[in-house]
Amino acid sequence: MKIESPRIVVRRSGPLTGSVNVPGAKNSVLKLMAATLLAEGDYVLTNVPAITDVQKMSETLNSLGVATEWLGPHELHLVNSGNITPEVPFEKFDKMRASINVLGPLLTHYGSARINWPGGDDFGGRPINLHVEGLQRMGATIDEGLYDIFAHAERLKGTNIELALPSVGATENLLTAAVYAKGVTVIDNAAREPEVQDLCNMLVSMGADIEGIGTSRLVIHGRERGSLKSTKHTVVADRVQAATYMAAVAVAGGDIMVRSARTEHMEALLNLYARMGVAVTPQRDGVRVTSHERLRAIDFITEPYPGIATDYKPLLVAMLCVSRGEGSVTETLFPGRFKYIEEFRRLGASIAIYGNKATVRGVYELIGSEVKVPDIRAGAALVVAGLVASGETVIRDIAHIDRGYDDLVGKLNGLGADVTRV
Ligand code: UD1
Repeated sequence: MKIESPRIVVRRSGPLTGSVNVPGAKNSVLKLMAATLLAEGDYVLTNVPAITDVQKMSETLNSLGVATEWLGPHELHLVNSGNITPEVPFEKFDKMRASINVLGPLLTHYGSARINWPGGDDFGGRPINLHVEGLQRMGATIDEGLYDIFAHAERLKGTNIELALPSVGATENLLTAAVYAKGVTVIDNAAREPEVQDLCNMLVSMGADIEGIGTSRLVIHGRERGSLKSTKHTVVADRVQAATYMAAVAVAGGDIMVRSARTEHMEALLNLYARMGVAVTPQRDGVRVTSHERLRAIDFITEPYPGIATDYKPLLVAMLCVSRGEGSVTETLFPGRFKYIEEFRRLGASIAIYGNKATVRGVYELIGSEVKVPDIRAGAALVVAGLVASGETVIRDIAHIDRGYDDLVGKLNGLGADVTRV
C-alpha cells in the first residue's frame, strides 16, 4: 500500500469573514531560545508559535544542556542549569538557518563553540562571512570545517564592527556575543528588524546594556561573564503570518480582523496593500482588512527593514498573479529567491523573470493544479493563491509550511476558507 505524504487541498473561497489571531514570530522566538544559553536559570517565553522549527531548536538546546517543556499551547519553559556542553552533536544537524544563533551565546559564555553548518530555506547562497568576520574582529579564532564550525576565544573583546550588509543573523550573533565581551562593542549598519529589537529587549531584561535598539547603530557595554539573569518574555507578533492572512482576504475578498498584528512593524507593507486596493484600518488590537474589488498591480522592491521584507514577496506575487495589469518585484536580498515562480506558473500565472526582477501579468482567475512547496513563505503563498484558483489546488511538501506557520489551515478555515489538510 502506498502511503501518501500529507498535503493541503484548497478550493476557491471567499468572501472571508471573522477574525484570526497572529502568534509570535518564528524569526524571533528561535533567537530568544538561543539566548537562554547566556545565563543560568528558568525562562518562560509566551506567545510562542506551535511550529516545527521551535521543536527543532528545543532539541538543539536539549543536546547542549538546556531543558525545555511546554507549559501551555503557547508557553515554553526553558531551564539552563549551568551544565552546558558548547558543542552541537553532529546528528543534531538540522535544516534551520537559526541554528547558527547558538554560536554567539556559546562562544561568549563558554569560550568555545562547535556548531554544524546552518541550513534554512534555499534562496541561493546564504553565506555566514559577516558572522565569522565580526567574531574574528572581537578576537575569536574560527575554523570552518567541511561539516562544522569551531570557534574559540578566551574572552571576546569589544570593538567597532561595520557590517557590509544589515544582516539579521549576523547582527543577532554579534549582539549576543557582545553582551559578555570585555569593553564596548559598536555594531554599525545593524539590522533594525522588529525581531532583532525583540532579542535586544529580552537581553536588556536579562541585564544586558544595549543602546540604540531599533537603530542601525547598536552599542553594547559588555558585562561580567555569567552575570546576566534569566527572564520572562513575550515573543513579538509575527508580521509575516499577519501579512499572510491579509493577503488571503486581499485575493479572496471579504472583511476580516487580524488580531495582535503590530501594524507599526508593517508600515511599508500596509501602504503597498493600500495601493493595491486593500483597505487596511489599524485598530486597538490589530488591523481590520477589507477587500471588495479586483486588486491593482504595482511595482515594488524588497529591502531590509523598514522596507518591504523579502519574506513578504511570495505573498505579494500571489496577489499580483490575479491583479489588474502588470506589476513587478525586484529582489535585492536573495537574488536566487524565485524558485517558487515555477509553481505559480502551474496554476496558470503569467510571470517572466529577468535577473533579480519578476514581472507578473495578472490573470482574472488561476487554475487549480498540483504544486510543490519550495520554502516556508512560498508555501503559504501557494495556499493563498489556491483561494482564487478554479477547481482544486493540491499542495505537496507541506512540511516547509509547518516549520513557520502555526495552524495555517485551521486559521484560514476559521475565516471561512475551504482548505483541508489530508
Ligand atoms: C533572516 C530570516 C529570513 C529573512 C532574512 C532577511 C531568520 C531565521 N531568517 O535570515 O526569513 O528572509 O533574515 O530578512 O531570521 N549575508 C551575507 N553574509 C552573511 C550573512 C548574510 O552576505 O554572513 C547576506 C545574505 O546572503 C543576504 C543578506 O545578507 O543577501 C541578508 O541576509 P540576512 O539578513 O543575514 O538573513 P538571515 O539572517 O539568514
